[in-house]
Amino acid sequence: MDYHVNNINQAESGKRKILWADRSMPVLTSIREQFSEEKPLNGIRLSACLHVTSETANLMRTLKAGGADVLLCASNPLSTQDSIAASLVADFDIRVYAVNGEDRDTYYEHIQAALEHKPHITLDDGADLISTLHSDYKDYIGNVKCSMEETTTGVIRLKAMQKAGGLKIPVIAVNDANTKHFFDNRYGTGQSTLDGIIRATNILIAGTTFVIGGYGMCGRGLATRARGLGAHVIVTEIDPLRALEATMDGYQVMTMNEAASMGDVFCTVTGNTRVLNISHFEKMKDGAIVANSGHFNVEIDLEALDMLANEVNRNVRDYVDEYVMADGRRIYLLGEGRLINLVAAEGHPASVMDMSFSLQALMSEYSVKNGLSVAVHKVPQDIDELVASLKLKTMGIEIDILTKEQKDYLTSWEQGT
Ligand code: ADE
Repeated sequence: MDYHVNNINQAESGKRKILWADRSMPVLTSIREQFSEEKPLNGIRLSACLHVTSETANLMRTLKAGGADVLLCASNPLSTQDSIAASLVADFDIRVYAVNGEDRDTYYEHIQAALEHKPHITLDDGADLISTLHSDYKDYIGNVKCSMEETTTGVIRLKAMQKAGGLKIPVIAVNDANTKHFFDNRYGTGQSTLDGIIRATNILIAGTTFVIGGYGMCGRGLATRARGLGAHVIVTEIDPLRALEATMDGYQVMTMNEAASMGDVFCTVTGNTRVLNISHFEKMKDGAIVANSGHFNVEIDLEALDMLANEVNRNVRDYVDEYVMADGRRIYLLGEGRLINLVAAEGHPASVMDMSFSLQALMSEYSVKNGLSVAVHKVPQDIDELVASLKLKTMGIEIDILTKEQKDYLTSWEQGT
């Protein structure tokens, strides 16, 4: 079997982590059991470009159990957990192309390997697989029945492709399902981003001024958790509604220019470019820490940091680079500006990925059963609600059901004051 991982001998520890995560993924486990019996993905070649974590490993096992011929490559050069990649190959017989720290060329060679698998279904986290398919593998576009997209940034890219008339395959915006972004983006990013910042620096969050760029679901989750740990939280936004929401949620809202001189820790979660730029670095305090938890490493202007610095000391601690400015101020960049929750920590915990990856599995099956048109599609509401119901069941939580009278009331207009 062809594959590319760092060290196949790390498989044993990877397997233990995969099985540990599986204990917190009961919905996905139940889908795997069903897939093993029904084999809905028989005859399907499936290529996934995802963060190579223990949670992703359990999704790959599920898709394979459903009969798919599965191949996995990394969706970020720094997020791969090498032991997981090794175990997927050695213990689960799944082809993996992912090495932590791979350079840009290797990253794209791995994406090419995933496309040369000639997939019928693709899974993406950030849309790199699909954008490479459309630019360099046009002959293979016709094979693809459907592509699933896991993250906000990828959905934005794909909608831009659709608008420009460039999209040639059906896509499902898994990110936009309620059981994905209300939970994974908010609770997953909130906790794992702080986990990454704390593992990288070991700083005490209590008492710091913590500046968050962006108040989407990820920003909301991060703000809640930072406040919970005792930080004074400042939010910056470009959207008036979100800025208002952050204000009424009790955060200080101001421009990044104003926040720049106040923050001890800065974290971007906007999905946009140069959110922290030269004018901000010029105002930052000595010792300011800057990190990103958005999908791409474009949110912090790294070129500007390099340009301003008289001296750069790499790895003053794992995942921490020190930039010494001309006036002696030091700015600490975490994880090379890549998503800190996956670079310095392990990404979102398994119990929340349980929902996101159950959606991925169910939508893979759905795309095989239903011929979809070329467009960006939503996850159907009944599948979204099914995942929520299954999750509640595994948590032992029962909810009320509407009585006949209540159903009638909701569909009538005659009854008023
Ligand atoms: N994205 C964020 N957290 C993740 C995880 N644990 N596994 C895969 N993708 C992720």
